[in-house]
Amino acid sequence: MRFRTPSEALEVYLGCPYLDTHAHLTFLRDSAHGDVLEIGTYTGISTAALLAGVELRGGHVYSVDVSPGAAFAWHQHPQWTFTCAYSNARQTIDAKIPALFDLVFVDGGHNYQDVHYDLFHYGGRLKSGGMLLAHDTNISFFPGVKQAAKEFAGSTGWPVEWREASCGLAVFKKP
Ligand SMILES: C[S@@+](CC[C@H](N)C(=O)[O-])C[C@H]1O[C@@H](n2cnc3c(N)ncnc32)[C@H](O)[C@@H]1O
Repeated sequence: MRFRTPSEALEVYLGCPYLDTHAHLTFLRDSAHGDVLEIGTYTGISTAALLAGVELRGGHVYSVDVSPGAAFAWHQHPQWTFTCAYSNARQTIDAKIPALFDLVFVDGGHNYQDVHYDLFHYGGRLKSGGMLLAHDTNISFFPGVKQAAKEFAGSTGWPVEWREASCGLAVFKKP
């Protein structure tokens, strides 16, 4: 199904409680403003929520995914830039994204090493007062996600809220 706008897509997604990000979609929309980085696009469901937010409040969403097909999720949207790369491909990604972000959403590789890299590297590129989100912190299938997120919390000391619904979402606020 092709949607005309991110808001239209979001409305449909909000009617699908089986989506693994369902409980977080309105939060993503309501948190997205300014420069937003998404690691892991897949079919563009979370991207739609983030784009709906920057459409309302202004800003731009930068998404990174190793899968070339993800490029087509929102490819004609003027507030979206997609980079096809592994999230640790620094040179390729840095050429297309800003230095600092207001919001970073991590939902790419789900093994410990990938999540650890994404949280520490891209968490380090948050503006003061910005928010870092890690999806899948409450699903036993991906133990490395919670482990890396707990290490990030311990290492930075940033305030964190552990949301349990929809596979879990860690919400870090950079002081
Ligand atoms: C769970 S899906 C993302 C779902 C999406 N955030 C949503 O809610 O609609 C994970 C995506 O991350 C991508 N991915 C996996 N490992 C990656 C890595 N190391 N760097 C970049 N993308 C990665 C996969 O290709 C896949 O599309």
